[in-house]
Amino acid sequence: MLSVNRLSVHYGPIRALDAASIRIGRGEFVALLGPNGAGKTSLISGIAGLVRAQGRVLFEDREIGALPTEDRVRRGLTMTPEGRHVFANLTVAENLRLGAAIRRDREGVAQDIEKYLGLFPILRERNHQLAGTLSGGEQQMLAIARSMMSRPRLLMLDEPSLGLAPRIVAQMFDYISLLKEAGVTLLVVEQNVMQALKHADRAYVISSGIIRHEGKAEELRSDRRLIDMYLGN
Ligand SMILES: Nc1ncnc2c1ncn2[C@@H]1O[C@H](COP(=O)(O)OP(=O)(O)OP(=O)(O)O)[C@@H](O)[C@H]1O
Ligand SMILES: [Mg+2]
Repeated sequence: MLSVNRLSVHYGPIRALDAASIRIGRGEFVALLGPNGAGKTSLISGIAGLVRAQGRVLFEDREIGALPTEDRVRRGLTMTPEGRHVFANLTVAENLRLGAAIRRDREGVAQDIEKYLGLFPILRERNHQLAGTLSGGEQQMLAIARSMMSRPRLLMLDEPSLGLAPRIVAQMFDYISLLKEAGVTLLVVEQNVMQALKHADRAYVISSGIIRHEGKAEELRSDRRLIDMYLGN
C-alpha cells in the first residue's frame, strides 16, 4: 500500500532522516520505534508532505512525493501529529467536523461523527464542550477521531500514548486496534515499546536517521539485543 524508497529529510545542515526505506501492506499495523531524535517524526512528516523530503513515496502505486499534504489526505493518507493538536476554542463536535473539511458528502460526515462518538463514548458526553477543557487522554482520542474524519485508508499516528497514564495507554492501544479491525492501515510511532509490539504486526527500528531493523513485532519483542541497543528498556 505504501512504499517509501530512500527518503531523506534535512533541516539546514542537520540530516534527520538518511535514505530510509519502508513498506506497508494493506491492513497492516506497523510500529515505528526508536530513541528521541531518531527521525521518527521526520519520516512520517515526510510521508505526509509536512516537511520537504528527497526520495520516493508510492501510495497505492502512485508517486505522491510531490503532492501537497492536502492532496495526500484526499488520497487517503493522514497523519495525526504528536501532542494533541486539537482546536482548544472549538467544541468536540466542531473539531470533528473540521477533520472532514475536505469532504463534500454531508450525510457521510454526519454518519462518521456518530461512528466515532460511538467508538469514543467519552467524546459523546463531551460533544459540546470546548476541546481545550478535555483531559489529555480525551484530547488524544479527539485528535485521532478527527483524523479519522478524513476517512484515511492509511493513518500515521505520532506517539498517541504520549503523556497518558498507564491504564489509559492500554485503552488507547485497544482503540487503535479497533481502527485496524475496521480496515485502516496503521503506522504508529511509539515510545511505549512493549505495548506497541504487543499490538503491532510488524515494526521498524530507527536511530540517527537510519532504519536499523525491520521484522515481526512478536520476534522483536524477544530480541533483547536489539531492544537494549536501540530502545533502551
Ligand atoms: N524543525 C527542525 N529544525 C531543526 N532540526 C530538527 C527539526 N525537527 C527535528 N530536528 C532534528 O532532527 C532530528 C530528528 O528529529 P525527529 O523529530 O524526527 O525525531 P523523533 O525520532 O521524532 O524524536 P522524538 O522521539 O524525540 O519525538 C533530531 O536531531 C532533531 O533535533
Ligand atoms: Mg517525534
